Amino acid sequence: MTTILVTGGTGYIGSHTAAALIQSGYEVVILDNLYNSNEHVLERIQTITGVLPKFYQCDILDKAGLKKIFDENKIDAVIHFAGYKAVGESCEIPLTYYENNISGSINLYEAMNDAGVKTLVFSSSATVYGAPKSVPIREDFPTHTTNPYGSTKLMNEMILADVCASDPEWSVLLLRYFNPIGAHQSGLLGEVPNGIPNNLVPYIARVANGTLEFLRVWGNDYPTVDGTGVRDYIHVCDLADGHIAAVKYALEHKGADYINLGTGNGYSVLQVLHAYEKACGKELPYKIMERRPGDIATCYADTEKAFKLLGWKAKYNIDDMCRDSWNFTVKNPDGIV
Ligand code: WQD
Repeated sequence: MTTILVTGGTGYIGSHTAAALIQSGYEVVILDNLYNSNEHVLERIQTITGVLPKFYQCDILDKAGLKKIFDENKIDAVIHFAGYKAVGESCEIPLTYYENNISGSINLYEAMNDAGVKTLVFSSSATVYGAPKSVPIREDFPTHTTNPYGSTKLMNEMILADVCASDPEWSVLLLRYFNPIGAHQSGLLGEVPNGIPNNLVPYIARVANGTLEFLRVWGNDYPTVDGTGVRDYIHVCDLADGHIAAVKYALEHKGADYINLGTGNGYSVLQVLHAYEKACGKELPYKIMERRPGDIATCYADTEKAFKLLGWKAKYNIDDMCRDSWNFTVKNPDGIV
């Protein structure tokens, strides 16, 4: 059986991907430091799949802990999610972000190399495109980052491209996610942000369940359909399936490549809000505020390469995403406990 190490595997995207991997016939080993998640996620994965994944509570800054995992398990490939991911926070504590997301990742790549494991799927982000010159965004568009979080993603891409150039045995797929939202249809897995959510849909979910008063809409003077920001929202289960296709491809090929994981459709803030109102059956209050610094007007993916290379395309629409997000929110008022 092919064994995949999933770093950050008790997190939002990592847990959905771990469950999908098991259901696709892979053996999964999870590494997580539980900074932004908890061990109850493992039980949820077991309820969904019937399998309790092998788990190591380990930080990617812990070189001995990483070596132990590769010594004790025959790993065939790694999907690397572990990392800090809050844009605003990264501007406040950049050194913590560079230490964790760069030094920690290099520890992982060195542990892989020492163990002869040279197949990797990396969790990158559409944030590496910065403000695109046009949309839809193709993988060959220029990259430019505007915050330390985005820079750590771009630097990891550069490091891994250099590793592949130095050793033809390496196989790396760099997946550039657009805006992941939604939750597992069972309501057992979903997004549980620490504190007040920065991202749109987790914030709307808290307005819908009454724990936040209204949505602050960051600007309605953008050159878009209704003046509010447009993004390519992708269901987290579509994203998980994209990783299944990616790891299969990476195990059969060598070299580095970049792939967008998005739907190719853009939705405005107000369009998402109205979709969520349909999902939860109530009107959701909002107030138009000033633009949020660093935001761009419009961002959505060209999805051609993902389909050509991986045979993958997203299948869920914005109503599915809001329905599943609301279902998870109602079933887990206190998060995953
Ligand atoms: C989406 C839209 C906001 C919150 C970020 C990261 C990116 C990726 C996805 C990891 C924008 C508006 C939001 C709110 C609002 N993460 N908004 N009120 O900024 O596109 O991308 O998350 O890879 O790296 O940058 O996502 O959900 O924060 O914002 O009006 O309370 O919703 O202005 O137009 P973003 P977001």
